[in-house]
Amino acid sequence: MQEILKPIEITNDRYRLGYHLAAKSGWINDPNGFCYFKGYYHIFYQHYPFAAEWGPMHWGHARSKDLVHWETLPIALTPGDKEDMDGCFSGSAVVHDDKMYLIYTGHHYYEGDDDHDHFWQNQNLAISEDGINFKKYENNPIISQAPEDNTQHFRDPKVWYENGSWYLILGSQSKDNLGRVLLYKSDNLIDWNYLGPTAKSVDREKEGYMWECPDLFPLGDKQVLLMSPQGIKADGIRYNNENETGYMTGDFNYKYNKFDRSNFQELDSGHDFYATQTMLAPDGRRLLFGWMDMWGSEFPEKEDGWSGALIFPRELTLKNDKLYMKPVDELKSLRTNKLMQGNTDIDGEQLLEFNSKQYEALVDFDISEASELGFCLKDTDNNEMLEFKYFKDNNRVVVNRFGDDGIRESVINPSSKLKLHILVDTSSVEIFINDGDATFTERIYSEDTLKFSLLSNGKSSVSYDIYQLDKN
Ligand code: FRU
Repeated sequence: MQEILKPIEITNDRYRLGYHLAAKSGWINDPNGFCYFKGYYHIFYQHYPFAAEWGPMHWGHARSKDLVHWETLPIALTPGDKEDMDGCFSGSAVVHDDKMYLIYTGHHYYEGDDDHDHFWQNQNLAISEDGINFKKYENNPIISQAPEDNTQHFRDPKVWYENGSWYLILGSQSKDNLGRVLLYKSDNLIDWNYLGPTAKSVDREKEGYMWECPDLFPLGDKQVLLMSPQGIKADGIRYNNENETGYMTGDFNYKYNKFDRSNFQELDSGHDFYATQTMLAPDGRRLLFGWMDMWGSEFPEKEDGWSGALIFPRELTLKNDKLYMKPVDELKSLRTNKLMQGNTDIDGEQLLEFNSKQYEALVDFDISEASELGFCLKDTDNNEMLEFKYFKDNNRVVVNRFGDDGIRESVINPSSKLKLHILVDTSSVEIFINDGDATFTERIYSEDTLKFSLLSNGKSSVSYDIYQLDKN
């Protein structure tokens, strides 16, 4: 008889996040199917409900009217059917004829072969009329196999509508072990024609051997190809995570499937940012979700019956071929109380005395006299948990999360101001520098309420506003 599995239970909520999205319990990774349908934003996520570990992937599901208050819905996709026997891997959603279409990867191992590096993947469809209940398409798969010159890595479909046709790109790996994205076209979301590769890694170490979670969309006057390559080699201050998320910009010619693209650029400089997906909001904003974690991390919350979370949703803009990210403006509706505000001169470390695990700090430094500026978070015993510093002489921004491999860095554009927007939640910190010129996304784990101090080496005048953030 088949064992009936029960969702794992949360045993301790010390690291549970206040205003970030996570599963009720169990494991999550990539955001999937980000869309707007019948008055709600919908987000799905790679989910294993029965343990705080990656396992046969389901699609967990939540919806929200305002990108801030999320209602968890029943699991949308469960693996185990013929076309998704060993997992419903990442994919996307589109709305068509008043229905929501989920396009996702079916993951398959070979029977009798326990080596999980041996697998194959196809692409499938599930449809919903109410945005809650999903029915897998009876003639799945919609794309049954990878092209001849591809390896088994063939997944994460992102679908969009353009000029009378549906398009789909897939993350993949060519037989010469280079990451690439493949383009398909359809009139009806069911029959797909392969148009060929749209972009390909120039070199395994520089641009990766496999590209996961691709997304191709117009922004400003360019097309942006956003994706998550595996295998890029660390290069000084760049590419220090196990995998990276980044982008290329360029002009894309649909007729010839030709993407005239720039070099790959990292999108966020922190330890915990991966597998992003965007959508076009009804008001025209390009919104982004991502997994606020990284493959290979320790995930201390596993002990407590859960693992993984999503970033606070961000808005993307493009300036001078560079992507800028900021938290969506709806964040303001979480402000329940002003914890502190001030305008003062500092020189050295200045503790701001408030008591909160969930807040937003807006800090503006005048950088004329100081050589280094930043902030730090310390636990009750004054152990440093996270420090952020800006170095004026070379415009470097550095996060130190302490412990092993604690440092991440970036370089910002010269500016006369240092403006920080910091989102702190029970086990995460997101730092937006100068309106998204650089960002750092970090998980940090302490059971204490951390102390927040401003830092300045040399005199600086600084103004700050700190708001408590609560879902009410
Ligand atoms: C990215 C990824 C995807 C895949 C999914 C499986 O983090 O590896 O390529 O579809 O996770 O959970």
